[in-house]
Amino acid sequence: MVSNKLIASVLGLVIVINYITTKNKSNTILRKFSDFTFSFAWRISSSKIDQRLKIVKERLFGDVNGNVLEIGPGYGSTLKFLDISKISKYTCLEPSAHFHDKLKKEGLERGFTVESIDKNSPKFPEVNNSASKTDSVRHMLVLCGFLSSQTEIQKSIVDNGPYDAIISTLVLCSVDDVEESIKTVLKLLKPGGKLYFIEHVSTDKRESFVHKFFHYFQEFITPAWGLFGGNCHLNRETFEIIKSFPEWESITATKISEEGGLVSNYLAPIYYGCCSKRKD
Ligand SMILES: C[S@@+](CC[C@H](N)C(=O)[O-])C[C@H]1O[C@@H](n2cnc3c(N)ncnc32)[C@H](O)[C@@H]1O
Repeated sequence: MVSNKLIASVLGLVIVINYITTKNKSNTILRKFSDFTFSFAWRISSSKIDQRLKIVKERLFGDVNGNVLEIGPGYGSTLKFLDISKISKYTCLEPSAHFHDKLKKEGLERGFTVESIDKNSPKFPEVNNSASKTDSVRHMLVLCGFLSSQTEIQKSIVDNGPYDAIISTLVLCSVDDVEESIKTVLKLLKPGGKLYFIEHVSTDKRESFVHKFFHYFQEFITPAWGLFGGNCHLNRETFEIIKSFPEWESITATKISEEGGLVSNYLAPIYYGCCSKRKD
């Protein structure tokens, strides 16, 4: 049967890819390939995902204010949900240059002045933290780099902080180390500053037999999925990791649940919410 052959070929391919990717975990060529293929996939799928998360994003991001950092903004889909009159400066940390042109265009359309810096920039610009909420011109800075990596870009993220708010939408699934990323987020936030997050997590295998099946399916498919999906992990307990940090004073979070939803219930359940850093 053709379908049996097809299933066997796909399974074989997934197993080979899993073997290659686990042997070459931090291989930068694989990561570059993965970012490249992902930028195409995300161009097609991000507007659909945006539509699905529209109500959540409106609810969550309307409050964001002050000096803001967004990690992994992609094509800038968060920008249309912000009230930019509340924002003094918006720094975007996006490691994949494939997203930058559309991200900058989105920033300009939303009324920001846009400046872009990557590691090849001859000079890092002067930092101006004095922009206030009443300034009519709001500045958006696009940095090309990874959170938590020790580069000059990292220095620039620190110099532009500390931040009143940090936004992470479907990003912590793709970072190399979630714990390290949260530690960095906590360092970058002001006392009382907020992390706004929307993140997909691994399926809770204790819920039912079907959940258990999808939990192990996520484990199996993640290496191959990540190779084409910008290092995305379907099998991370991201929300558990976020809430395990004692530096949060308060956490409000909701799990999205849609009746009959295969993706939201089994493949990529999503938590969204906000954590406030202790003031002392
Ligand atoms: C699934 S996309 C989400 C894009 C965007 N936040 C959205 O919701 O449309 C994941 C994004 O995280 C970025 N990313 C991956 N690892 C990162 C890291 N270590 N630091 C910052 N961004 C990262 C990717 O380049 C990509 O833009």
